[in-house]
Amino acid sequence: MNVTWVLGYPTGHEQGSFLTVDLGGTNLRVCYITLPGSRDKEFEVDQQKYKLPNEIKSGTAEQLWDFLSDCLQKFVEEKGLKGTKKEPIYLGFTFSYPALQEYIDHGILQTWTKGFDIKGVEGENAAGQLQEALDKRQLPIKMIALINDTTGAMIASAYKDPKTIMGVIFGTGCNGAYMEQCGKITKLKDSGLPSDTLMAINCEYGAFDNARRVLPLTPYDEAVDRDSPRPGEQAWEKMSAGLYLGEIFRLVLVDLAEKGLVFKDQDTTKLREAYALDTGALSAIEDDESPKLSETRTLFKDVLSLDITEPELELCRRLAELIAVRGARLCACGVAAICSRNQISSGHVAADGSVANKHPKFKRRWGKALGELLDWPKDQGEDPVVLTSAEDGSGIGAAVIAAMTLERAEKGQ
Ligand code: BG6
Ligand code: GLC
Repeated sequence: MNVTWVLGYPTGHEQGSFLTVDLGGTNLRVCYITLPGSRDKEFEVDQQKYKLPNEIKSGTAEQLWDFLSDCLQKFVEEKGLKGTKKEPIYLGFTFSYPALQEYIDHGILQTWTKGFDIKGVEGENAAGQLQEALDKRQLPIKMIALINDTTGAMIASAYKDPKTIMGVIFGTGCNGAYMEQCGKITKLKDSGLPSDTLMAINCEYGAFDNARRVLPLTPYDEAVDRDSPRPGEQAWEKMSAGLYLGEIFRLVLVDLAEKGLVFKDQDTTKLREAYALDTGALSAIEDDESPKLSETRTLFKDVLSLDITEPELELCRRLAELIAVRGARLCACGVAAICSRNQISSGHVAADGSVANKHPKFKRRWGKALGELLDWPKDQGEDPVVLTSAEDGSGIGAAVIAAMTLERAEKGQ
């Protein structure tokens, strides 16, 4: 669990325009966001999505920061955004990886997660590396806050919704953030902050049970871990996050095919390619309402060149369900742990990520599991803790946190 130096919830009155860049989800996103300064007004968001080339994910730090600064440069030029050395364009950087922060515009990457394997960033200050790359191009951009996507989702939501209790991501990776009193944060030594001041904590609970003492692992979970760039890490995330659910499904089918139980006498070359099926495919299978699952049949033909029989279709449907249900129930555990620890009995959990937004049954399964874990009475009407949408929230969160940081700096805090 990492301290973030995001102190307290926003008031909803924060104002100003900020540049944000978001690295760590499906897309690299650059936004220019104007905060309305009032809970009743809307944010103005001008955004551009960029595809992070696959070779960068296993390349070098220089390539990564060069790519990011290139996207930022193109964006500010296209939008005609101007800044000077004295009055720079302020940037909030959503860096959705575990980072040790000594202050808000600093973050030492502990380890890459979500399949990234870029040399030269682990153990280094990612915020400093980005700023250096921007300075090399003499761009008038000053990075003032490095944040996690979960903290971003929580703060973006809290700007409008005072009932927000957590920010969570159910996407490529899975993680959550919540607010803690500084006096209870054992990692904060001699910070000088009053003990009742709130600070956002990035839980990084994707790394829960890396010691493998609690989670019941299947051979397929072991295989996902073994073949990942960081074996032994992110144990819980590898069972629950979007990056891995399709892969678990594929590994089960490969095993069944090897045992001669499915796809007999068919060419399974495509099925044997790692990550040949993404979580979108799993959602599509569960969502298939076509007669005799004909959409799933087409998916197997198009993506894997396999002719699938009716019993195999039924099997795939059930398998997709099992894997997604396990993922959703694990996702509920992270939130239940925070609610139990801090005696939170009601509120809104602001969620973003492709699994939360696109999987047809995720929210219902998550809510059911949370109710079981927190012992909610049955048939009590609306659940006391509910998932709310923070879709694309971390860009807004980064802008709000940048505004909060500037405000504090102006007050000399
Ligand atoms: C995006 C946020 O909307 O969702 C990112 O801007 C976040 O900060 C991402 O990491 C998570 O979802 P996914 O599915 O893209 O990993
Ligand atoms: C991974 C990252 C974490 C991030 C999450 C969701 O778990 O380590 O920082 O919040 O993915 O993107």
